[in-house]
Amino acid sequence: MAKPFDFRSELDALLQRQRYRRRRILSSAQGVNALVGGKSVRVFCSNDYLGLASHPKVTKAFQDAAGRFGVGSGASHLVVGHHALHHELEEALAARVGAPRALLFSSGYAANLGVIAALVGRRDVLLQDKWNHASLLDGGQLCGAKFHRYGHLDLDGLQRRLDAVDEQQHCLVATDSVFSMDGDIAPLPRISALCASRNAWLMVDDAHGFGVLGEGRGTPQALGCAEGVPVYMATLGKAIGVGGAFVAGNDSLIEYLIQRARTYIYTTALPPAMAAACLASLRLLDEEAWRRDHLRMLIERFQRGAQHLGLRVGASQTAIQPLMLGADAAAVEASEWLWEEGFFVSAIRPPTVPEGSARLRITLSADHSEQDVDDLLCALAALPLESGEPHGNE
Ligand SMILES: Cc1ncc(COP(=O)(O)O)c(C=O)c1O
Repeated sequence: MAKPFDFRSELDALLQRQRYRRRRILSSAQGVNALVGGKSVRVFCSNDYLGLASHPKVTKAFQDAAGRFGVGSGASHLVVGHHALHHELEEALAARVGAPRALLFSSGYAANLGVIAALVGRRDVLLQDKWNHASLLDGGQLCGAKFHRYGHLDLDGLQRRLDAVDEQQHCLVATDSVFSMDGDIAPLPRISALCASRNAWLMVDDAHGFGVLGEGRGTPQALGCAEGVPVYMATLGKAIGVGGAFVAGNDSLIEYLIQRARTYIYTTALPPAMAAACLASLRLLDEEAWRRDHLRMLIERFQRGAQHLGLRVGASQTAIQPLMLGADAAAVEASEWLWEEGFFVSAIRPPTVPEGSARLRITLSADHSEQDVDDLLCALAALPLESGEPHGNE
């Protein structure tokens, strides 16, 4: 007889450990001022870094395309779901990141799983930064390759692992460019040179860099090493404000993924209207370049203010500004207190981040004003915490 499932006691254990996750219902458009759980709040936790998710031009492009082409894509890309708008978007994305070709996926999670499983298998080696996004790590678990996680940004550790790969094994190294919970940036030029010297392939997940860094062309472009990144992946649901993801690389990589990436083959294509919306967002990256400039200014303002107040925010130069609180309860209390003050900042706890490093993941958007940032800083300075202390420079 099989063991009966007992979800209740698992859920109770999560509750007791302050690990229970709750959803809050958004009933307005996505934006820095939103109606969440029936309350008007200022949002500091979305990934809509450029404020494009409800931009009128993006919304209109979506509406027009839905009016012409309907809503559903009807099938996978390899059947009858590959629309001219998808194709146009792939070409625009490839041009934007300076790669010969690009391939659309329905989500970043699907892209990472599918690409890793297509590129490495049982006989191969996969090396990843230990703080990579869950979708890359899950791809590592599923692909069957010999999978090692090196220390965060530990290039000596990576080199040792690379040196142990033998000539019969393909080796793929995968790293986030901008780490999603810390906002720090991987030294891609050095990682890329290391990979090239050992004949390993480098895959970069630029979910939090594309659209923002490198004039909106992504982190490898910003760091001058785009040529050294044969497998580039980015999402379209963050700075681009829509949804989906893409992988960019040379012609044979893309053709190979079309034949072999199961999360590309066995899934319904994104609605064509989403592709139209992404195309509108890509145009806005150039037409409204002020969004990136304004965001950069807000990041500097937040950093300066936080340092002045002695808040524990690290030195992130990106829109992701974590406030380290340590204990899970401290992060939850802080998030709840800010909520009462009218700010929505989510608490991030293990297993999303390592034990003992619960935090507020504060994110900035081009639609925030300087006043918004100053008001948040004021609230952070006033945080009453019983179980932790957000002040004091480490
Ligand atoms: C670094 C990183 N990669 C991949 C993903 C997954 O992308 P998506 O939300 O499109 O599935 C995310 C976030 O969700 C992410 O932060």
